[in-house]
Amino acid sequence: MKYDFDQIINRKHTNSAKWDTDNGFDTLPMWVADMDFTTAEPIIKALEERARHGIFGYASIPDAYYEAEVHWWERRHHFTIHKEWIEVSTGVIPSLSAIVQAFTEAGDQVLIQSPIYNYFNTSITNNGCHVVVNELKHNGDTYEIDFDDFEQKASHEKVKLFILCNPHNPVGRVWSRAEMLRLAEICLRHNVVVVSDEIHRDLVYTDNHFTPFASMGEEFLMNSITCTAPSKTFNLAGLKTSNIISANEEFRKKVNRSLNVNEAIEPNVFGIEALIAAYNNGEEWLDQLLDYLAGNRDYIMSFIKERLPDLRALLPEATYLIWIDCRSLGIPSTELSKKLLEEGQLRINEGLIYGDTGEGFIRINIACPRVLLHKGLERLEQVVKSIHCNLSGNL
Ligand SMILES: Cc1ncc(COP(=O)(O)O)c(C=O)c1O
Repeated sequence: MKYDFDQIINRKHTNSAKWDTDNGFDTLPMWVADMDFTTAEPIIKALEERARHGIFGYASIPDAYYEAEVHWWERRHHFTIHKEWIEVSTGVIPSLSAIVQAFTEAGDQVLIQSPIYNYFNTSITNNGCHVVVNELKHNGDTYEIDFDDFEQKASHEKVKLFILCNPHNPVGRVWSRAEMLRLAEICLRHNVVVVSDEIHRDLVYTDNHFTPFASMGEEFLMNSITCTAPSKTFNLAGLKTSNIISANEEFRKKVNRSLNVNEAIEPNVFGIEALIAAYNNGEEWLDQLLDYLAGNRDYIMSFIKERLPDLRALLPEATYLIWIDCRSLGIPSTELSKKLLEEGQLRINEGLIYGDTGEGFIRINIACPRVLLHKGLERLEQVVKSIHCNLSGNL
């Protein structure tokens, strides 16, 4: 079946965090990471059938759920996992929080790389731990890892966990096997457990290759926990269903205990059906989505190059999130995002929420019909022009 990603669907008044935050205004929301596309038809059908049953009591997880997850890894990522390795949870962030609780004591430290998806910080600090930052090195067109700094930080006796984001939100990198091997070896050397957030694993653009962290070798498999979900891939974030995968039985026991303590383990009846339908029958939709997103990515890259040459957008290797360097405008990212919202009626994410290294950057979500993307970019252009005018007026 041919899907129409150009179709504009009104999401207002659907209790959407993305669209209903600015109710009453003509704001274009290009921030929170969900998509303005309907999901794959087999998923909608499975949910309709389940809804028609009419009874939504407590759920149990069927074998078909685990089989769908196992086969997806095998088919899409050539990585063999086993049903027993999977713990189900209500989201990747609840999972990270439970893992931090399970592997640390108050006052311990957790290593992350900055800029980074902001909820990593929250999961760490909410559990009484300190964040230790390995800043990614921005080299103009991409980001690289500072391995010396990483090793120096990982070697601290209080550092118990490293949370990796692969593919990376917000900078869009798909870490290479060679880069991850270096990180993995350092963590092993210093007894740091690796938690790999792979929620964006399926949204990788052609020419880039995603390597599951745990697939790199037995010792890394046993020293890691992988978090994932069908939510980013198939636009199912509201269904609150994700998986935690580890081959290490001791790790699984700890995580399971912690999930239970947090009551983050009760499955969602619709989430179960959606995951099974997505992983068994969603590939046709996903492949078309990836083509469309690649078109949007090329569109924003050329728009910025031609019409906003002072800004520098990083070409993402994965994700529908575009990281844009606006430092040449000379205003803080908080002020820039306020101007975009108030003067341009465009809501984006300001870079600073992803850490100090995000100052001067913005993150734009391009998972929308191209007409809306164009409209959003025109709003960005209009605000950037007015900033230029004010700056030249002030000279
Ligand atoms: C890297 C990363 N992890 C986790 C999440 C959120 O996961 P969940 O909604 O399952 O808690 C996001 C959402 O944008 C994300 O980008």
